[in-house]
Formats: sequence, structure tokens, C-alpha cells
Amino acid sequence: MIRSSSARVLALALALGIGSLGLAACGNGGSDDADVVSKAPAGSTPGEGMGGATLADFRPSLDLKEFMNHVMDYNAFEVWHRQGWIIGDTVQELFPTDDDGWIAAENAARTLAEASNLLLLPGRPQDDDRAWVDFAHQLNDAAMKAGDMAEKRDKDAFFSAGTDMYRACHGCHVRYIVGADGPPAAADPLKPLPNRGEPPLPNQ
Ligand code: HEC
Repeated sequence: MIRSSSARVLALALALGIGSLGLAACGNGGSDDADVVSKAPAGSTPGEGMGGATLADFRPSLDLKEFMNHVMDYNAFEVWHRQGWIIGDTVQELFPTDDDGWIAAENAARTLAEASNLLLLPGRPQDDDRAWVDFAHQLNDAAMKAGDMAEKRDKDAFFSAGTDMYRACHGCHVRYIVGADGPPAAADPLKPLPNRGEPPLPNQ
């Protein structure tokens, strides 16, 4: 029993090329083939805990629109489609009804939480103050809460975390797409109502 399994391990080691020759090459400090460690880009400083990666190593592969559509929107709707109620003659619940559904909801929320970091990759932030960072963090908090509540199968709290997620998306869009001064005035604006205050400024 033991003999035959160690023979198999040896055969596997040989097949993988980690026999004495391969080990000797490593011990020599590396031949060209074994020299797989890349050099950090010139002038960049590795961040602590980043395994030698530097800012210049990040590869934001999508422009912001593509990123929004394929990553943010896709994962947000994987959450939002799994929550809420359709109220008509009867009330239809949209929440998952089995473990697979809840796990899918949690997966999407966790993906979105991690993806909020990708908003901060070089070239993505749309200005140099930290408002963009704050929106990314707001989204991270909300998506983590949605993931936690999906894990707990707490429908109401999961729903409310979905609302918080929406607020983070919307807040950032109001500031960076519509503009910090709010939506453009309509050509023929409605008269202000006496009981209606000024709308809150974005990011407040
Ligand atoms: C930190 C800021 C920020 C956050 C947070 C954010 N977005 Fe965006 N989003 C933008 C900006 C800026 C654009 C406009 C990009 C452009 O037109 O180049 C945009 C555009 C979009 C678009 C339109 C893409 C197109 O094809 O025109 C969608 C859809 C979108 N976002 C979805 C979302 C969703 C869903 C969330 C939240 C889960 C979210 N975004 C969170 C900044 C943000």
C-alpha cells in the first residue's frame, strides 16, 4: 500500500519535472527558465503588504462606462433582482426561496463590495478630492451589509442594504455625471411649491 503510493508520488514528481535536475536548477540560483520573478516598473514603489506589486502594476482593462456596465451594474442587479416585493392583487416576494438563491445573492454582493476597490484604480477617480473615494467606501459598506444580511437570510435588512447600495451609486452619479450643482434646470421650470424646501445637495 505505502510502497505503491510513494511510487506514484515519485512518478508524479518526475512527470512534473521536479526530479533532481529541476531541484538542482533551483539550487543554482535559477537558470533562465526558472527566473520567473518580474522586475517592478522603474520609479514605482511597492506598497506594504502588496507582494512587490506597485501602482503601475494595476491593469484597469475597461473604460469607466464598460466597467460600470459589466461589473457594477451586472452585480448590483444580481442583488436587486433578488429582493423586494411586487404588490398587486397579491404580494409577490422576490427574495430567494432556497440556499442556492441566497448564496447567489451573497456572491453578487461580495463581488460588488470587492469591486468597489476597483473604482480606485489609477485613472478611474474623476477628480482629486476624496469625494470619489467616499462614494466607493459607501458602496463597499452597503454591499458588505447586503452580503452579511443575505448570509443571515434577513430579508428586511437585506432589502434595506440594497437601498443603501442604490444611494451610493446614485450619489456618485449625481455628482460626477449630472454635476456637483445638481441636475440642469428644466427649460420651463415648475414653480417652487411653498411647502417644498431646496433639494439636498449631492453627497450630503
Ligand atoms: C465612485 C463613483 C461611482 C459609483 C459608486 C458608481 N458609479 Fe456608475 N458611473 C460613474 C460615472 C462617473 C459614470 C459615467 C461614466 C462615463 O460616462 O464615462 C457612471 C456610469 C454608470 C452607468 C452608465 C454606463 C454607460 O454605458 O453609459 C451605469 C449603468 C452605472 N454607472 C451603474 C452603476 C451602479 C449600478 C452603481 C452602484 C452599484 C454605480 N454605477 C456606482 C460613477 C460611479
